[in-house]
Amino acid sequence: MTFELRPMNLEDVQQVHILDKICFSLPWPKNSFVYEVEHNRVSRPYVVEWKSPEGEQRLAAMLVCWQVMDEVQVATIAVHPDFQRQGIARWLLAYGLLQAAKEGADHAFLEVRAGNHSARALYCQFGFEVVGERSGYYRDTGEDAHLMTLDAFDLEKLQAWSERKT
Ligand SMILES: CC(C)(COP(=O)(O)OP(=O)(O)OC[C@H]1O[C@@H](n2cnc3c(N)ncnc32)[C@H](O)[C@@H]1OP(=O)(O)O)[C@@H](O)C(=O)NCCC(=O)NCCS
Repeated sequence: MTFELRPMNLEDVQQVHILDKICFSLPWPKNSFVYEVEHNRVSRPYVVEWKSPEGEQRLAAMLVCWQVMDEVQVATIAVHPDFQRQGIARWLLAYGLLQAAKEGADHAFLEVRAGNHSARALYCQFGFEVVGERSGYYRDTGEDAHLMTLDAFDLEKLQAWSERKT
């Protein structure tokens, strides 16, 4: 089986929407992804597609980054539970940040639920640090958001992690 990392396109939107609903308690409206692909000029949306030797295809992961000049925001990232803990998020995030760096970004930020330990561990691997809190930010549970920033990209690390071939 193989994994292919590529830009998200309109044909992916239905599967991305399903993945979003599986992974998040507050999923985006489906049309948000249409907007990201078609209209949002600062958006850099990607997917990872799984392909079996028999030709079966499934959406394994998605990432949306927003890039404004030298700053990139990780808007959302999700890996389908069937494909988690295989290094796919690290690969995808490294790829997204590296592409952003090639377009001139040199720092990044994101928001994460305070209790999302798996995502926070992922971001810590990249060097993201908690710099602030938004109290009661998430309207479903009232959980706090942590604002995390990455002030300098380690390009060697991003290059190495983005070269995953499976
Ligand atoms: C967070 C998420 C994207 C991680 O995806 P993944 O492909 O399983 O992550 P990876 O296999 O690339 O793991 C990279 C690192 O993240 C951390 N990590 C990932 N899942 C973890 C878990 N369940 N528990 C602890 N650490 C975890 C580890 O540090 C891991 O490195 P290691 O494998 O060397 O220990 C995935 O769990 C997910 O989609 N969760 C639901 C959506 C979500 O919360 N998105 C983030 C919103 S801010």
